[in-house]
Amino acid sequence: MRILFLGDIVGKPGYTAVVQQAQALRAELKLDALIVNAENASDGSGLMPRQFKRLTDAGVDAVTLGDHIYRCKEIIATLKKTNRMVKPANYPADAAGRAWVVIDTPKGPLGVISVMGRVYMRPVDCPFDAVDRALEEIGDSAKHILVDVHAEATSDKQVIGRYLDGKVTAVLGTHTHVPTADACIFPGGTAFQCDVGMCGPYDSIIGRDIKRVMLATRTFEPCHFHVATRDVRLCGAIVEAKENGKAKSIERFELKVEL
Ligand SMILES: [Fe+2]
Ligand SMILES: [Fe+2]
Repeated sequence: MRILFLGDIVGKPGYTAVVQQAQALRAELKLDALIVNAENASDGSGLMPRQFKRLTDAGVDAVTLGDHIYRCKEIIATLKKTNRMVKPANYPADAAGRAWVVIDTPKGPLGVISVMGRVYMRPVDCPFDAVDRALEEIGDSAKHILVDVHAEATSDKQVIGRYLDGKVTAVLGTHTHVPTADACIFPGGTAFQCDVGMCGPYDSIIGRDIKRVMLATRTFEPCHFHVATRDVRLCGAIVEAKENGKAKSIERFELKVEL
């Protein structure tokens, strides 16, 4: 099974690039599954229902989110009914959305789970217990499982990755928007990367206009952080997995897109 996981879609540039490229990527990379994190799609924060629809219509199989999940409250109704999008599994049980989904691929079912870290993040439930619960509920319905670990600290992501080694196909990081050079396969057969990077404008501060972020950071004067526009790239990881659900390879994916 060949899976492409793309990191946080940031604003219109990132969103447009994913919609524009999804079908071509599926064909060229011989993908069985395309999963994206879309927590920053709507002007840098949240995801609108029409964007979710366009992403899935364009060839995205499933969407993960993160701390910006409910920033566009319109998505709540969609989260309650779709089986192609997940909330962080360690969010409250009553929070809108599913803790896991299983999607069909030409190579069999693929489970998708998102989990939030706890270092420098809003307090959430234990990610280890939450992911264990999700895995137990998925049970035998999928041998292949992708976990999006949405966290600030690399150590937080590594410890969750190591905890899940041998239990899932891949643990791939999002949230910090900067790709890390640590893609590897752990001894138990789980592919890992601390952060796969964002899909958005790289001539920026993690996707936002440099001047605005600098002004607010230096002066403490609040201002809207516009999404930047230049140097749009799609970043992610391609994981190839064996029939038994263990990872065979992982490679960083990066594509510069002209819009
Ligand atoms: Fe985030
Ligand atoms: Fe993000």
